[in-house]
Amino acid sequence: TTMDWDEGAAEKGDYKHFMLKEMFEQPDAIRNAIRGRLDFDMGTAVLSGLEFSPRDSALISRVLVVGCGTSMHAGMVGEYAFEEMAGIPAEVEQAAEFRYRNPIITPHDLVVAISQSGETADTLAAVREAKHKGATVAGICNVVGSTIARETGRGVYLHAGPEIGVASTKAFTCQVSVMLMMALKIARTRRMPRHEGEEMCRWIERLPELVEKVLEQNDAIKAVAEKYAKCENAFFIGRGYLFPVALEGALKLKEISYVHAEGYHAAELKHGPIALLQENTPVVALLNDIPGKDKTLGNAEECKARNAPVIAVVSEGDEEIADEFNDVIVIPNCPPSITPIPTVVALQLLSYHIAAARGCEIDQPRNLAKSVTVE
Ligand code: AGP
Repeated sequence: TTMDWDEGAAEKGDYKHFMLKEMFEQPDAIRNAIRGRLDFDMGTAVLSGLEFSPRDSALISRVLVVGCGTSMHAGMVGEYAFEEMAGIPAEVEQAAEFRYRNPIITPHDLVVAISQSGETADTLAAVREAKHKGATVAGICNVVGSTIARETGRGVYLHAGPEIGVASTKAFTCQVSVMLMMALKIARTRRMPRHEGEEMCRWIERLPELVEKVLEQNDAIKAVAEKYAKCENAFFIGRGYLFPVALEGALKLKEISYVHAEGYHAAELKHGPIALLQENTPVVALLNDIPGKDKTLGNAEECKARNAPVIAVVSEGDEEIADEFNDVIVIPNCPPSITPIPTVVALQLLSYHIAAARGCEIDQPRNLAKSVTVE
């Protein structure tokens, strides 16, 4: 049985679409996802559903994250966090690829299955394969009592509330919040000192406020969206923690507006895709102040030289970078691991307003279902 929420279980209120409502719910959704889970004294996260003692956590030698679509993108952010914060090797793999390629699992691997609905067929099959091979398997799900939540038997619920829009928004930002807390918890059983853990707790606690600052720019982002609403192709580029955000930005745009959008690692453009750039192909460049920013800036300049309009996403205080580009969206300052969350919110709004300007369905895009329970 599936436990999908339906439209009857949630109301749109004054919002025109569930997607719009859910984007604006993100500060509260993240508040719920982190409530009671930050331990400032020990500078760690309390995730009791994981059922990991510090010793269990210390014994993990590798983290494998499996998922599909937006959930896989959240897993990619997790991959960076596990490696950077916990110093633990991490991989993310598309769940169908994992299930069919006879993955190598060792006894100290932690497999994390990430799924909003908890019903995605490929992710569920990956869970079964990983369990069969003796891995410790944990779930990150939103729907309580869903199949993946039950079969993993341990994990972390998002508590994001029902997500009705087919385009996942608040689930993604809550998934990333949970990934950061999981990485923090494991990091603290290793080399991360307490004061660094405490600092991380402070930034995680500030996530709702950072997202609010982006939501406040809704009208400005709408104006940018309307300018590019007629485009048929678009690119999103980023590096490091913002590479998965570029992929997610492109996925949002293609699924609700039917604009052909590609997310690329900024360094990969010159290996082919740059051939497609022209004056009606906007490039959204994620130029926030994180390591690699200057390189991405160089890539954005290459796009400009091919006459492609560049929408620059920059950190507060870096507005001068934007002077050389057509449009700018400003994201509050925060450490690299935190940037995906406020940044993706800007891209969600951009996609929403492009889709709205094109008169698209938005909550129920053609050919898509909220949860993909078949192969
Ligand atoms: C997200 O906007 C998509 N509709 C889709 O990629 C989704 O994230 C994917 O199907 C995975 O769903 P799940 O999180 O419920 O497993």
